[in-house]
Amino acid sequence: MAAVSVTFLLWLSGVRWISGYIITDQGGLGREFDGIGAVSGGGATSRLLVNYPEPHRSHILDYLFRPNFGASLQIFKVEIGGDAQTTDGTEPSHMHYPDDQNYFRGYEWWLMKEAKKRNPNIKLVGLPWAFPGWIGRGKNWPYDFPDITAYYIVSWIIGAKQYHDLDIDYVGIWNERAFDVTYIKLLRYTLDKFGLERVRIVASDNLWQPIAYKMLQDMELLRVIDVIGAHYPGTHTVPDAISTGKKLWASEDYSTFNDEVGGGCWARILNQNYVNGNMTSTISWNLVASYYEQLPFGLEGLMTAKEPWSGNYVVSSPIWTTAHTTQFTEPGWFYLRTVGHLEKGGSYVALTDRLGNLTIVIETMSHNHSVCIRPFLPTYNVSPQNATFKLDGQFKDIKTLQVWHSKLCTNTTKNTLFQKMSPITVQNGAFSLELGVDEVYTLTTLKKGHKGSYPEPPKPKPFPRKYKDDFKVRNPPFSEAPYFADQSGVFEYFINTSDPGDHTFTFRQVLTQRPITWASDAPQAISVIGDFTWSNITVTCDVYIETPDTGGVFIAARVNQGGTETYVTKGIYFWVFADGTYKVTGDLVGKIVLGKGLSGVRAGTWHTLTLHVEGSSAYGLLNGLPLWKGEITVGPAHGWAAIGTASFEFAQFDNFMVKAKVL
Ligand SMILES: *[C@@H]1O[C@H](CO)[C@@H](O)[C@H](O)[C@H]1NC(C)=O
Ligand SMILES: *[C@@H]1O[C@H](CO)[C@@H](O)[C@H](O)[C@H]1NC(C)=O
Ligand SMILES: *[C@@H]1O[C@H](CO)[C@@H](O)[C@H](O)[C@H]1NC(C)=O
Ligand SMILES: *[C@@H]1O[C@H](CO)[C@@H](O)[C@H](O)[C@H]1NC(C)=O
Ligand SMILES: *[C@@H]1O[C@H](CO)[C@@H](O)[C@H](O)[C@H]1NC(C)=O
Ligand SMILES: *[C@@H]1O[C@H](CO)[C@@H](O)[C@H](O)[C@H]1NC(C)=O
Ligand SMILES: *[C@@H]1O[C@H](CO)[C@@H](O)[C@H](O)[C@H]1NC(C)=O
Repeated sequence: MAAVSVTFLLWLSGVRWISGYIITDQGGLGREFDGIGAVSGGGATSRLLVNYPEPHRSHILDYLFRPNFGASLQIFKVEIGGDAQTTDGTEPSHMHYPDDQNYFRGYEWWLMKEAKKRNPNIKLVGLPWAFPGWIGRGKNWPYDFPDITAYYIVSWIIGAKQYHDLDIDYVGIWNERAFDVTYIKLLRYTLDKFGLERVRIVASDNLWQPIAYKMLQDMELLRVIDVIGAHYPGTHTVPDAISTGKKLWASEDYSTFNDEVGGGCWARILNQNYVNGNMTSTISWNLVASYYEQLPFGLEGLMTAKEPWSGNYVVSSPIWTTAHTTQFTEPGWFYLRTVGHLEKGGSYVALTDRLGNLTIVIETMSHNHSVCIRPFLPTYNVSPQNATFKLDGQFKDIKTLQVWHSKLCTNTTKNTLFQKMSPITVQNGAFSLELGVDEVYTLTTLKKGHKGSYPEPPKPKPFPRKYKDDFKVRNPPFSEAPYFADQSGVFEYFINTSDPGDHTFTFRQVLTQRPITWASDAPQAISVIGDFTWSNITVTCDVYIETPDTGGVFIAARVNQGGTETYVTKGIYFWVFADGTYKVTGDLVGKIVLGKGLSGVRAGTWHTLTLHVEGSSAYGLLNGLPLWKGEITVGPAHGWAAIGTASFEFAQFDNFMVKAKVL
């Protein structure tokens, strides 16, 4: 293909020759635009969002999905929950066990429906990070029985339609892990067999290679893969990927704090992923930072909504740098070939609906406002510049362009975000713009665009100092109780209809087998809750061990680590076991033993555990009576409260209560 970035010399007012940029469709168009998106999951990144009170929850969803309002996302990608830890928590599978199917777990179904409700044209993508253990029959590998894995994934797609009327548009293989050629072909075959020819396959959600090379070697593989999705491509692709002739996506990108720098990083890669790397979709990890901030990659997301207890949320700069592209394009538009870099730094892209409409997006992000964390993109020298654009071809007769502008500053409060300016008059097919540093401009023939807003959300507040849940009120009726954030294992509401009454409604750990992991999951199950700064607290919970002889459960305080390194978590853990013993440990895996003894606890009966920690002293009660007391000389000074099980085993919890003393 011919060079696309054409600089020209323009005679202006008979004064002097200046350089400029041609925008034209003469000689053909560039690639088809597939949309800008974001991912919920990988993992549990939207955990706290579901528990927001209305109207704040709807407002947040509007900022993300409502067309012509905020980010107006065009693609929504979700994790196909696999029961394992996938960065900020676990997401439940639709098939915990081989004979189990349930399409109402977790919050991704709900989120997809909320997205579709706002934008029926939004494209949906599903991708597994992990799989339930039975898929691998005990091996930590999903490809030994590829027919089972394909059936499992296709079931999720069928369930989406059957139970939620959601059409999944794209499906992936295994996030940032190995792919298997036989499996990919079998996935295509299985999709087709179930009448899902329209579902496109993205592979391999890792690097460009070796998937691109393999596709060029294998015509069948080349046929079945529709999109090569690379993660954090740093705006570049590789020749093999281009040679496949397939669509190229940054199927996960950004992963940067959503302060003013985040918005700049995002604006820069949205343009340059196409300009430098021929990518026609960029998908942000992640959608919204709706997880406890102290979990890995806190505050990475297009905006932040991590306080359902207060209702506070923050609409951050990436929302508005997204809007610069999404509010003035649609998937199915085409990039022009005339895209490129600006002489004094920055870049421009142009897109058309092929009906005469034109949208140009210009960014001039300097180093300071475009530091993308992964990969670290090199420093840019950007200087103020006057840029002249000449419209040609189908765009030659455009007379005016609407203008939208953002300027990012080091001081966030001084940012100008997504402001409508006076239209530009195009004279003799050309116009000039005075471009500053760290700016985004959209110039468009479309007379739409709207900076949506709602009244300020409530002020931020810490997690309530006194909190309890008897698991009876299930509103909203999600499968997990509010604010509990599973870091290993899966905890779900449970109803025991044969219970005489006290414990009909409980909270149950439901994994009975280690999943095919994405991270090094702890062999114990743990769900954290509360405020990471809590130091002096009392945790009380009714517990019910279901596994005779070998089962065990715990409650904990000062839990200081979640995410992919949950297995190194420290804290104060109070355990009871079905063999009639108890233990106090300073870590989750139970290596740091602070105390142990007999408790008389048995499986199949309810017990009440109380753990009190204050300064360096702690004690534990069993059924309200003292069981142990001790000095705590090790471990973190603060952390979350938690509940959990000694292994992947059924166990139940009820009447959870925490009281924190804060200064
Ligand atoms: C890929 O992008 C480069 C750089 O913009 C461009 O020169 C080339 O023509 C593009 N190739 C395809 C096949 O889109
Ligand atoms: C541009 O888009 C608008 C709205 O979709 C449409 O009505 C119009 O026909 C398109 N073409 C031009 C040249 O404006
Ligand atoms: C940009 O970053 C550099 C290095 O961090 C710093 O010295 C400089 O003051 C920053 N410039 C602006 C305009 O913030
Ligand atoms: C841009 O053009 C304006 C008006 O002609 C001029 O005042 C300004 O100095 C120019 N800026 C740059 C960076 O060349
Ligand atoms: C940022 O700008 C605002 C408004 O001008 C000012 O009140 C605030 O002190 C500034 N903050 C910093 C950290 O400079
Ligand atoms: C349900 O409650 C009954 C009666 O208390 C009890 O025997 C049974 O073990 C409970 N089942 C589960 C799964 O907890
Ligand atoms: C926790 O309690 C200890 C002992 O009473 C006290 O010294 C400490 O300041 C408390 N810490 C917090 C964060 O309240």
